[in-house]
Amino acid sequence: MVTGPVECVAGAPELACAAAVDGAAAEGIPVDGAGGVPVDGAGASAERFRDVMRHFPTGVTVLTTTGPEGPHGMTANAVMSVSLDPPTLLVAIHRRARTHAIVRAVPTFTVNILAADQRDHAELFARTDPEEDPFLCAGWAPSPVTGNPVLDRSLAVLDCRVERRLAVADHTLVVGSVVGTSVGRPDAGPMVFARREFCEVGHFGGK
Ligand SMILES: Cc1cc2nc3c(=O)[nH]c(=O)nc-3n(C[C@H](O)[C@H](O)[C@H](O)COP(=O)(O)O)c2cc1C
Repeated sequence: MVTGPVECVAGAPELACAAAVDGAAAEGIPVDGAGGVPVDGAGASAERFRDVMRHFPTGVTVLTTTGPEGPHGMTANAVMSVSLDPPTLLVAIHRRARTHAIVRAVPTFTVNILAADQRDHAELFARTDPEEDPFLCAGWAPSPVTGNPVLDRSLAVLDCRVERRLAVADHTLVVGSVVGTSVGRPDAGPMVFARREFCEVGHFGGK
């Protein structure tokens, strides 16, 4: 019987499976044919959906663009890698965000991936009515590829060309092909957003 923590063991999935079941039983989680996780089939309200998604950690970025009035930025965690070949990602932007109107009309956007010590950046660019220009506080320089703002101390940056825009519910999914990349601070830990808090990942296993 396996009693230790579950580890990735290549070629031995039954070992990991046995360990997971033993681990659940040890924690007092009922293990049965339905997985021991009761699922409410009555549909989901926005609140229930949010209550579940808060347990799904994401990275945190600031999406920057250049609109008619100059640089603009918005904190965003609805960002995902879509494809490696060609490198493609998507971002989801609420249709009431000012960024939404800007991104509808511009050919490029830039994803600034934040490090754990950039909580100030995450908060600055999430404000609906900032008292000061967040770019002045954060510091930035134009990307040589797109001209969009690259925020000082960003962990990594992806410059993107807008390929498609797709309206879904109250958001627009903007698909971008990656045209420029940078990892400015490879040793910095990424910022993580989970349970409505900004957190830091403690350990990366040396990779
Ligand atoms: C951690 C975090 C993640 C966020 N992710 C998104 C997102 O992915 N898409 C979005 O539309 N708004 C997101 N928001 C909300 C926007 O940052 C916020 O509404 C902002 O004021 C919009 O700025 P704008 O109106 O200048 O575009 C997020 C806020 C926080 C704090």
